[in-house]
Amino acid sequence: EPSAYSDPAAGFHPYIPSYFSNLSGYSLPEGFAWGVASSAYQIEGAANAEGKGPSIWDFLSHRVVNQVADNTTGDVVGSHYFLYKQDIARLKGLGVPAFSFSISWPRIFPFGKGPINEEAVQHYDDVMAELAQQELKIAPVLFHWDTPLALFNEYGAWSDRQIVDDFFNYATFIIQRYDHLVEEWFTINEPQYCNWQYSYYPFGTYLPLYNNATQGAKARFTCGHYTLLAHAKVAKWYHEEFKGRGRITFKNSGNYFEANSTSEADAVSVQRNYDFVLGWFNHGVWNDGDYPQVLKDTLGDILPTLTDDEKALIAGSCDFFAIDPYTSYYAFGIEDFDSCVSNTSHPGFPECAGSTQLAPDGFPAGPSADPGASWLYDTPTGVRRFLNVITKELFPAVPDIQVTEFGFAEPFESELTSLQTILWDLRRTDYYQGYLDNILAAIAYDGVNVTGAWGWAIFDNFEWGSGVSTRFGLQHVNYTDLTRTPKASFYSFIKWFEDHGAGA
Ligand code: NOJ
Repeated sequence: EPSAYSDPAAGFHPYIPSYFSNLSGYSLPEGFAWGVASSAYQIEGAANAEGKGPSIWDFLSHRVVNQVADNTTGDVVGSHYFLYKQDIARLKGLGVPAFSFSISWPRIFPFGKGPINEEAVQHYDDVMAELAQQELKIAPVLFHWDTPLALFNEYGAWSDRQIVDDFFNYATFIIQRYDHLVEEWFTINEPQYCNWQYSYYPFGTYLPLYNNATQGAKARFTCGHYTLLAHAKVAKWYHEEFKGRGRITFKNSGNYFEANSTSEADAVSVQRNYDFVLGWFNHGVWNDGDYPQVLKDTLGDILPTLTDDEKALIAGSCDFFAIDPYTSYYAFGIEDFDSCVSNTSHPGFPECAGSTQLAPDGFPAGPSADPGASWLYDTPTGVRRFLNVITKELFPAVPDIQVTEFGFAEPFESELTSLQTILWDLRRTDYYQGYLDNILAAIAYDGVNVTGAWGWAIFDNFEWGSGVSTRFGLQHVNYTDLTRTPKASFYSFIKWFEDHGAGA
């Protein structure tokens, strides 16, 4: 009996390693969506194949020295573009029921708009047919950061309102073609990253390209503005004109914040972190269509204004909430919130929320090549608390929530030479087991309506900013011969779902 859990007054329990879990008697709800996730640029390779046009990531990885820490590119990576049949067969064979992947906009529209590349359309037709044949469910993402370079060159892509129409043109083409196969569509991956990850609005170290921090901050919030409108326009069409058979939303980047102390300043910092990361894109969706008041007050004319028509478009544009919670942070208040927008390292964000520190939870973070890399930290109870906070406190109108990505990159994995050692990935195994137990605890004990969980990633891939040296895969990829091998974490990840009534 889960007495300690079901009594809210008892608060949250500390992290219990999965092998001591008492959740084994609980099942996931009927229809729970689970599987592995990926994105086109990170796994496909085939950067020049079959008429694909360049994306900003082809440009950044090839032409901007040290933009990617190890100076690798997505040219080849796992070459899923060519090996998709075996990848799909392996998922099927292992008992994974679903696959989330993105479609490459610059493959379909090599110039971002205009002529369609029929070869690429044929390719995705073939992929979809294979997935259907193997009875794998899909959860496609329409845009995962591979902005067509042509649009960037022509008008600055996400800095211009024109992107809303060009995205609409691409997105509606894909949706019309594949909607009969899809229950859940994701328009945009993590709009919170509309800095260099997909708009290449340089900030921080790239700030010299702008005259001042305010200009950098303006670029960031302008990109977010058009991203939100691009999503909303497609969603409106999907709901009201096309009347699609499925549901539609976008994927959020966001992590759990815990106040570092009981001080007022720390509590304010927690709230501001949520407002600046999640509220920025979601306040309007689940309320009145507008940005949170605190963003307007803090940012002034750095934040674009939404018209009444635009607010009407945004409100209600998501059918459920999708969150990618990799880790957790402690939040510390800062005294001078007002100067935050001119902070030169991250103008307007996230200093406007106070400073933060990663919060090791299950066990200490361990050695790290990059102490700032949040993916090295395993904070399983954070995910349970976060699911509660999002659905009960931040956006109570949310009907259900999915964990659309979570995953772990073992420090120094790319330096290990013995495949045996790589495959015996106990920390990743523990990360997944702990997170899954806590997701289930949120459902079973806290009554949160969680309807899906997706592990990042199907196999090792190109990590933005750090290249192929960072390995998030549930399968290892040998980049010399492209062999994939499941890591131990993958088997236990799958078994966890089987043990909880959701086997394929
Ligand atoms: C979120 C992003 O969507 C994905 O592209 C990235 O690889 C993972 N997080 C890990 O950083």
